[in-house]
Amino acid sequence: MSVKQRFTICPASQLGELGKFTFSIHYRGAKRDAILVRFKGSVYGYLNQCVHMPRTLDCENHNIFDDSGRYLQCSMHSICYDPISGMSLSEICAGKKLTALKVLEEGEWIYLTDKRAVIDT
Ligand code: FES
Repeated sequence: MSVKQRFTICPASQLGELGKFTFSIHYRGAKRDAILVRFKGSVYGYLNQCVHMPRTLDCENHNIFDDSGRYLQCSMHSICYDPISGMSLSEICAGKKLTALKVLEEGEWIYLTDKRAVIDT
């Protein structure tokens, strides 16, 4: 039986609806910024890098959702993303996607379960 790798990211209580939690990982061997968001109760993880330019989504503003609360929005040039798929819904970079990370909310904690990524301990 194989043991699945998982790393604790944060307590689930730290990620409220439409909230974010940022953290650092090594992804495919390189240090990267990552982000968790909670949307309609579920947790989604992404590399925290816009598809337009190499900027974190929250580089200019702490809010990660647009005013409607329906879309993730990069604070630099306002590209909107589907929070569930990470797909760009804006004309700029239409069809490009944020890089999703596998995460798991279980009990009181949220874990990184993505084989491509590790959290430094
Ligand atoms: S850097 Fe994100 S929209 Fe331009």
